[in-house]
Amino acid sequence: MRVLGLESSCDDTAAAVLDDGTVRSNIISSQHDLHEEYGGVVPELASRDHQRLIVPVVQKALSEAEVGADTLDAVAVTYGPGLPGSLLVGLSFAKAFARGLNVPLIGVNHLEGHLYSGDFASPSPPRPYLCLIVSGGHTELVYVEEDFSYTVLGRTRDDAAGEAFDKIAQLFGLSYPGGPAIDQQAAGGDPTFHDFPRTRLDNLDFSFSGLKTSVLYYLRNFSDAERERVLTEHLDDLCASVQAAIVDVLVGAVRRAAEETGAEHVAVVGGVAANRELRRRGAVVGAEEGFEVYVPDLSYCMDNAAMIAHAGALRIAAGDEHSSTLDVVPQLQIEE
Ligand code: KG4
Ligand code: ZN
Repeated sequence: MRVLGLESSCDDTAAAVLDDGTVRSNIISSQHDLHEEYGGVVPELASRDHQRLIVPVVQKALSEAEVGADTLDAVAVTYGPGLPGSLLVGLSFAKAFARGLNVPLIGVNHLEGHLYSGDFASPSPPRPYLCLIVSGGHTELVYVEEDFSYTVLGRTRDDAAGEAFDKIAQLFGLSYPGGPAIDQQAAGGDPTFHDFPRTRLDNLDFSFSGLKTSVLYYLRNFSDAERERVLTEHLDDLCASVQAAIVDVLVGAVRRAAEETGAEHVAVVGGVAANRELRRRGAVVGAEEGFEVYVPDLSYCMDNAAMIAHAGALRIAAGDEHSSTLDVVPQLQIEE
């Protein structure tokens, strides 16, 4: 089955062609430059840019895959969660495109896209598996018993892990998105430079707002001149210390969840899965605890449409299809 996948839930306009599980093209047009000067995504600008980009991005996905639109068997599109205006651009386009081609339309939960992006790792995780979704908008720990049968073991109570990276990077004067910037700076730093708090809740939920506040207070305690000196001389140490705190919490939760569920396979997906320290520590814990860790290539970690096409293909294979009355669901969650 040949599926066109579309993704426009946040600040990436993406289209991909998937042929029976093989990625023929995976085009991502990021709006990072557009939002950088504001230090975060501006919804109005995002939806307008999706409108400008959706047609060229789809054209590029088709031409790179060397397939004509008339050979598509289905169109899969993210319908939530995400920014309402941004989702609407992708969904409206997908509805019209599917209707024009007279092929099925399948709406995909963006989180389900991330969940199954683990399948792009080689080898892909067998079922059942434990999945840590860590992105700019989400931090969820999900046990996948089998496809479309989940238990959500934990999720963030406040900021997502990527959001924590982004907001703290902003306090350090680093550019948006902050995760890659902190990852890069941290490479040369001392993770024990400052002991930032690791919030561990009784259950498997996460909380990162305390860390952000603690960084804010840490910086506020200095005089202006002293703060500037610390941020100049110890930026790498501070980044390494913050990164260690976030990674400790994530890896600790995975360790506990794997113990509780007896999971033998663990996938780490979403934009933050690009983090080198998280990948390294994940592999270490996996070796210690005896579970296999699966992390897809970077292009499938960040928001992309190949994962939407893949999740859509799985849904279609399970007999699902949406009508053209499908609407966006900005607060969509993973259904247990
Ligand atoms: O999955 P994604 O592209 O979009 C969302 O669904 O949110 O994730 C984007 C997030 C951003 O917060 C970004 O800072 C973070 O992923 N990120 C990283 C790294 N690369 C991207 N965080 C830590 N280390 C990285 N190397
Ligand atoms: Zn995402």
